[in-house]
Amino acid sequence: MTDQDFDFIRNLVRERSAIVLEDGKQYLVESRVGPIVEELGLGAIGGLVNLLREPSSIGLQQRVIEAMVTTETTFFRDVHPFETLRKTVIPELVRKRQGERRLNIWCAACSTGQEPYSLALLFRDHFADLAGWKINILATDLSRDVLARAKAGRYNQIEVNRGLPASLLVKHFRQHGTSWQLHDDVRGMVDFEEMNLIRAWPPLPRMDLVFLRNVMIYFDVETKKSILGRMARILQPDGYMILGGAETTHNLDGSYQRVEHLKTGFYQLIG
Ligand SMILES: C[S@@+](CC[C@H](N)C(=O)[O-])C[C@H]1O[C@@H](n2cnc3c(N)ncnc32)[C@H](O)[C@@H]1O
Repeated sequence: MTDQDFDFIRNLVRERSAIVLEDGKQYLVESRVGPIVEELGLGAIGGLVNLLREPSSIGLQQRVIEAMVTTETTFFRDVHPFETLRKTVIPELVRKRQGERRLNIWCAACSTGQEPYSLALLFRDHFADLAGWKINILATDLSRDVLARAKAGRYNQIEVNRGLPASLLVKHFRQHGTSWQLHDDVRGMVDFEEMNLIRAWPPLPRMDLVFLRNVMIYFDVETKKSILGRMARILQPDGYMILGGAETTHNLDGSYQRVEHLKTGFYQLIG
């Protein structure tokens, strides 16, 4: 791949998703867009870049961006955030929302759905007494490909082996050959929508809980600041935002504080 081709693709990816591809990431571009080059019979990445330069290539651009995003996720990823939610955070929010009997939750970069479904399973199995409540779980991502897979709620053996306890697999999934289909009652608890965090956000309710995990790590400082600033305006004053293990608001946005008594990753707005 020439330097010009690499620059073209990394500028496209940055402009459309905010993901920063550092120098030396040519190998990543080659391995991720290589299959598109092959499928279209273009011979080399230069041929793909020529097509991407055409104004009518919006669909192809979206495909390249979707190929470049990292969609790594698992059920109950990192375990402890879900333990903390079960033991501390959800019981506290439930106490505080007895009047409204509603919780608004947003998974802001949900990939193939394991994160919002883990949460839905948590509510199903541990908060059955909230049956009369409205538990709104919104899950968004910029990638149509991952959203289609998330909505389908069908996972292969490797995916269900990663983080999902066997008891939940047996209880909430039906086996179809080599894959596992999540039951409709859990699937129906999550609304999936396409949403790019760096574009204008649609009107959203004030959120009690926001998962913003393992997506800001790919962004530059200005983009992180802008997203955290907008998030602060839609998070309930006593709501929680959960970041990934390698992410922080420190030096980015002074309106948040890490909740010290909880394990890493939980943030609240400063009173
Ligand atoms: C590594 S996955 C994280 C999934 C999940 N939150 C977790 O922690 O397991 C990152 C996701 O962020 C999405 N993403 C990347 N840039 C985005 C953007 N600008 N707006 C919305 N989603 C984005 C990707 O499509 C991908 O599905």
